[in-house]
Amino acid sequence: MKLHPVSLNFHLQICCIPPKKLISMSSYTSNIKTNHAKLKAWVDEIAALCKPAKIHWCDGSQAEADALFNEMVASGMAIKLNEAKRPNSYLFRSDTRDVARVESRTYISSKTKEDAGPSNNWTDPVELKAKLKGLFAGSMTGRTLYVIPFSMGPIGSPLAQYGVEISDSPYVVVNMRVMARIGQPVLDALGSDKFFVPALHSVGKPLKAGEKDVAWPCNPENTYIAHFPEERSIWSFGSGYGGNALLGKKCLALRIASVLARDEGWLAEHMLILGVESPTGEKTYVTAAFPSACGKTNFAMLIPPKELNGWKVTTIGDDIAWLKPDKDGKRLLAINPEAGFFGVAPGTSAKTNFNALASCSKDTIFTNVALTDDGDVWWEGLSKEAPAHLIDWKGNDWKPGQVDKDGKPVLAAHPNSRFTAPARNCPCIDKDWENPAGVPISAVVYGGRRMSEIPLVFQSISWNHGVYLGATLSSEQTAAAEGKVGSLRRDPMAMLPFCGYHMGDYFGHHIKIGKKVTNPPAVFHVNWFRKGPAGEFLWPGFGDNARVLKWIVERVQGIAKAKETPLGFVPNKEDIDWAGLDFSQAQWDAVTAINRDNLRKQTEEQGEFFATFGAHLPAEIAAERERLIKAL
Ligand code: OXD
Ligand code: MN
Repeated sequence: MKLHPVSLNFHLQICCIPPKKLISMSSYTSNIKTNHAKLKAWVDEIAALCKPAKIHWCDGSQAEADALFNEMVASGMAIKLNEAKRPNSYLFRSDTRDVARVESRTYISSKTKEDAGPSNNWTDPVELKAKLKGLFAGSMTGRTLYVIPFSMGPIGSPLAQYGVEISDSPYVVVNMRVMARIGQPVLDALGSDKFFVPALHSVGKPLKAGEKDVAWPCNPENTYIAHFPEERSIWSFGSGYGGNALLGKKCLALRIASVLARDEGWLAEHMLILGVESPTGEKTYVTAAFPSACGKTNFAMLIPPKELNGWKVTTIGDDIAWLKPDKDGKRLLAINPEAGFFGVAPGTSAKTNFNALASCSKDTIFTNVALTDDGDVWWEGLSKEAPAHLIDWKGNDWKPGQVDKDGKPVLAAHPNSRFTAPARNCPCIDKDWENPAGVPISAVVYGGRRMSEIPLVFQSISWNHGVYLGATLSSEQTAAAEGKVGSLRRDPMAMLPFCGYHMGDYFGHHIKIGKKVTNPPAVFHVNWFRKGPAGEFLWPGFGDNARVLKWIVERVQGIAKAKETPLGFVPNKEDIDWAGLDFSQAQWDAVTAINRDNLRKQTEEQGEFFATFGAHLPAEIAAERERLIKAL
């Protein structure tokens, strides 16, 4: 069939002349080709609605990215970092009202409220569509409409899913290029009629003729992150930040994918994937779910203490895992649908996460971190001492020890500031991270940020018990989403903001998947965050988490011992490898202690939470809770 070129060279109005010798978007031609009639019709329909000044089909090339960055530098939206210190890297500062995912404005607009379940915001899809159509009408006036064909997962993988994002934000284009595979290869894979998820995004700030743009256009009063699960479509309006705008990530790879997974018999999970290599070279793959900003990226890239002679950790992904039963029905195979890391910057240092820091040493987009006087970046925790002078995330001069008018410390970087770094930059990236077949998963780990009660580690007694552990996961709130930092929230499977349908049915789907394979992964629960009476952490964390990981892998291999408790299998102190760490029996007792009365009370309190799922709560989950109450 003959392919029709659908795109063009176009001329952007830019207010400043870009530096000489740099490619500008006005001289950049993308020669993208597609004969996907439905896609072309959708682009035409959206262009007619949003009325952009231009349309640009993204080819995903380096030259295109360079031209976009040059244009954004020229317009004042981006700052090019010092090429010698941070090659090919840029800094963006968002509007101060657009700094995180907005769960209160995120909707699962399924046909019925029942299907969205009690954990999601729901609005009637017909009403919401009408409202959104009104907002999108003319919303791209004066801007360019970018068409971003993208693949979540290696192109051609049987586990991959395709989407096309239409966005009026060049920041979104360059971020999507890092976080997903974009451009012509995706159109080639889509062919003339393959299914894709249409994902529409606008910052919601049309430009009048002659109006000067702001550095970070957005529309916080009218933000909607809307999902239409039956249609498998996404409409996002008003925010340019992270998961609100990079629609392949949370919107497609979790909310819409969880619905696809339910219907097609696989799992779309908010999980990292790592490989653990034993000194004899045996590789075991593990996934882990932790609520947002609980150290998933650190755990995915951890460096075991050198005393654990030869144990190594490799990374497949740090945020999302798609798991599918293999064709023989034996095991679950997993891929990381993403191609980059959208990591929280504050707290990342050579000590806490050497590999993440190396990943963002070049080719990286930073958002809302501080700028140093020599054109590099800084954030709280990067070094012990802050530089003597910085430009903070709001663009103001900043000095160490600075306080605001109420005497509160002024942060140089926003607590949810991010780096968008290509996974290929990561020194510990697994050799199979792009294996289209995926990797076999032997263990699933759930973990929360809990100051008390929950021991360092334990193993579930069965898959269903593991589903119960995931279903009752809870954590103290952090800065990744809006909400009160420090309050405890229930976050089943770390999917509370990401499950695209009724959470009770989602638990049931997990139970079903466990039955679909003869060797489901073993399930564990960890808590790195237990605190002592003076508020001190009882466990060193970071690299020392490898000791727990080693026990987990050796449990899977049938080597490590454990004792049976009401919670599940708990290691004895001697079952953990302590080489190079002085950790007393008293410390071990403190980090693993179980207060049966408190635990029973907490388990009883889950009744109220479970009741919110009504008849959708699987009987197996209710039975696990009853078993635990009895055992306690
Ligand atoms: C993330 C999150 O950004 O979970 O990954 O909030
Ligand atoms: Mn996440």
